[in-house]
Amino acid sequence: TDIQGTVEFKNVSFRYPDGQSNVLQNISFKVNKGETVAFIGSTGCGKTSLVNLITRFYDATSGEVLVDGYNVRDYKKDELSRKIGYVSQKAVLFSGDIQSNINFGDNDADISAIEKAISISQSEEFVKLQKNGLEAHVAQGGQNFSGGQKQRLSIARALARKAEIFIFDDTFSALDYKTDKILRNALKTKMKDSTCIIVAQRIGTIIDADQIFVIDNGEIVGHGTHKELLNTCDTYKEIAQS
Ligand code: GTP
Ligand code: MG
Repeated sequence: TDIQGTVEFKNVSFRYPDGQSNVLQNISFKVNKGETVAFIGSTGCGKTSLVNLITRFYDATSGEVLVDGYNVRDYKKDELSRKIGYVSQKAVLFSGDIQSNINFGDNDADISAIEKAISISQSEEFVKLQKNGLEAHVAQGGQNFSGGQKQRLSIARALARKAEIFIFDDTFSALDYKTDKILRNALKTKMKDSTCIIVAQRIGTIIDADQIFVIDNGEIVGHGTHKELLNTCDTYKEIAQS
């Protein structure tokens, strides 16, 4: 149905349990099924805090966060996490092998799904170089992989899920511009029916997004497409010129 793959914030404010003041203030937006939506804004403006309310790492202090039309608080934990493929800002790898890292938690993708995820995430070239391929050793914290390789493996992990909503928290800034571009094209093809929420630092990463939200100091200060925002949002213009 049309409600599947939607995310909506209704007047959401958020203060960390140990915090003094709101880090998000009256946030409202709607992401439709299959859309690619981006959040951009300077460091510390609240982007990670915002996406963490969708996954329920934290709960909104006031207002409502809806996934598929239902308040996220009304889902069982595993029910919500099954709907969402999430790539955190800091790629996390565990000691084990590549396959177990992709198939971690409640993920139980088969080999062909894993291989597909490896391919789309542009991990194939460096996974192939490993003597044992998918069984190659991963050290604690993924120390034997570069930052960009870790990022790509954590993208593969999210892609191996049959999620309807994907969240990429600043996932592409650890990649060089060329890899960023190739990867986003591959994602576009793979995810044409999935909803995609991208937190970004570079304008180039989000230029094609259906909707872009500009965040400043916990508030939405601009909303539109790239072209629209260049005409309507000073903060966006500043980011574009930097
Ligand atoms: P970048 O990832 O650097 O681009 O920033 P961001 O836009 O993702 O900001 P984030 O949501 O991480 O932080 C927003 C505000 O919340 C900042 O003022 C942080 O200092 C604050 N913050 C983040 N995590 C915590 C926390 O665990 N406790 C408290 N009290 N504040 C936090
Ligand atoms: Mg962040």
